[in-house]
Formats: sequence, structure tokens, C-alpha cells
Amino acid sequence: MYILGVETSCDETSCAVINDKLEVLSNVVISQVDEHKLYGGVVPEVASRMHIQNIDYVCNKALKEAKLEIKDIDLIGATFAPGLIGAVLVGLNFAKGLSFCTNIPFVSVHHLRAHIASNYLTDKNLKPPFIALVVSGGHTQIIKVNDYTDFEIISTTVDDAVGECYDKVARSLGLSYPGGIEIDKLSKSGNDSVYNFPKPSTDNKFNFSFSGLKTASLNLINNSIQKGEKINIEDFSASFQKNIVDILVEKSLLVLKHTGLKTLCVSGGVSANSLLRKKLEEMCESNNFSLNLCDLKYCGDNAAMVAAQAYFEFKAGNIAEYSLNAVSNKSIV
Ligand code: KG4
Ligand code: ZN
Repeated sequence: MYILGVETSCDETSCAVINDKLEVLSNVVISQVDEHKLYGGVVPEVASRMHIQNIDYVCNKALKEAKLEIKDIDLIGATFAPGLIGAVLVGLNFAKGLSFCTNIPFVSVHHLRAHIASNYLTDKNLKPPFIALVVSGGHTQIIKVNDYTDFEIISTTVDDAVGECYDKVARSLGLSYPGGIEIDKLSKSGNDSVYNFPKPSTDNKFNFSFSGLKTASLNLINNSIQKGEKINIEDFSASFQKNIVDILVEKSLLVLKHTGLKTLCVSGGVSANSLLRKKLEEMCESNNFSLNLCDLKYCGDNAAMVAAQAYFEFKAGNIAEYSLNAVSNKSIV
């Protein structure tokens, strides 16, 4: 069985072909990052227009790299939520149209379910149940994955997502978009105990909050500018990153202990972070947990992970109607 995945929820246009052994035959990703860099962040209208320009080319390229034609495809899956509504609509309508014309079954895929599915691509032997830490530009959640299509949210952010916090702070430091990568790079040559940042607390001990940390960081930057003091950007990055990683590791440990599950899977754009990967490895080793760190090539948005989740949705009987609309904000459950 061959599955074609389509992903356009943010600023990557991607199509991929996988088979039912979860082998990735092609995963074409066109990033719009250089375009959005000019504005310091993703401009939704620009994203939608670029998806329209690219989607046909990307789909053909994915089929060609997989050495297949559309008639060989058995299932089409596309992201339908959450994401930038205009952007999601491009991939969703493209996939629905393709399915309608070819009679190939169509399933809709939730973006966070797809991020979690990238862990199955990373380790073909991985099976639920497990705990998934999903950290991206739009989301920060710890999810109990009971089965391939059965999820429970244990922790969520009450305000900003971790990637958003990284990107906003990076922008105030004058770094280019996406700032998470820049801060990660700079922090490697910095001292992480020079600047102090708050560790926010929430009413529900499992939840995250990053807006206080973002405000404290922006205040620190603005106060320094006003006083004419120079911020050491490497030390700032290292201290800021340590604070964030400590929070993510701490909460993951809390949830693992609370649920009694022994496997932690990590996915989403921020899971590419070098310190997060190192600290989670240390935490899991000392607690005898097994750790699945999403393969770096599947951390950011890509259609291979969409195709993988599409396969599981199909097996669960979740065929989508053509009347299905895109949804900008939708929970994984
Ligand atoms: O999953 P993703 O590609 O898109 C969303 O679904 O949001 O995540 C993008 C986010 C951005 O905020 C970006 O700054 C962050 O992932 N990111 C990182 C790193 N690489 C990407 N954050 C911290 N460290 C990194 N190495
Ligand atoms: Zn994503």
C-alpha cells in the first residue's frame, strides 16, 4: 500500500510518499522561510499564495522521487487542522480534489497527530502506549498516546507555545526568523548562569506557561537598551535556553512518573534543539525510560509524518468526507 501525504499548515509546502511498512519513499519539502524572514515571522497571506504556487510541483516531485504515478497511490492524507487557515486550505483542497478525480480514498490528519507519527518513522518498532512531548512554534503539549488514534492531553500551555517564545525573544535580540535555531546555535558558546529568568508556575502542575518568561526576556532586553548596556547575546541565549529546557524536562519527568509509562517520544520543530535532546537523554537514562527523539529530518513540518498518521487513521476507519473544512484551532482529541 502506498500513501501520499500533503502538508501546508504553516510555511512549508510538503508532499511525501510512504508505504505501509512506514518506509519513506520521498519527502519533498519547500520551505518559505527565506520569504518570511523579510518580515520577521510568517505572513499568512504570503504563505497561502506560495503554497498555491508550489503544491502541484511538490506533489509531482514526490511521486517522481518515489518512482510512482498517481494511479499507484492507495490513500491520500492531508493536514486539516490546526494551522493558518488559508495555508491549510490549499493542501486540504488540493488533496480532496486529487482524491475526487482519482477515486483514491482520502483521510484528514490533525497536525499534532502527524508530529507524533514522526516518532514511528524514527523507530519502526515503536508502539503505543507512550508519552509524547510535542514542542513546536504553535504548540507545547504532553500527550498520553493510548493508541495510534487515541490521545489524552495531560499538559498544555496556558498561553504561548515554546517555539513562539523562542521566536519572539530572538526577534527582540535582532536575530533572524526562525529564532529558535539561532538561539540554539548562539547558546553553544555562552555561559548559562549569567542571566536569571523566571520559572513560571501554573494552577495545574502539569501545564506550561511561557508568556511570563517571554515578557521577562523582552524587559531585560529593553532595559539594557535604555541603559545603554550591551547584552552578551551568547550568555543570554544559553541562560534563556537552559531555563526553557529545564521546564520541558521537568514536566516530562512529572508526567512519566504520574502515568507510570516508561517511553517518552519527542517531536515538533523545537525537538531539534540540541540542549533539549541532551538533557532528555540524561533524564531518561537516569530513570530507565526509553526515549524516542524524532529524527532531525522529521522534526520540522513535513508530509512524511502526515502520510504515516494518514495510514493509522485509515486503518481505524476514519475516512473523511469531501465536505470537510479546514480548522485553524482544534484539539488533538
Ligand atoms: O513544528 P514546526 O516546524 O512548525 C510548527 O508546527 O509550529 O516548529 C517550528 C518552531 C519554530 O518556532 C522554530 O524556532 C523552532 O521550531 N525550532 C527550534 C529549533 N529548530 C526549530 N527551536 C529551538 N531550537 C531549535 N534547534
Ligand atoms: Zn508543526
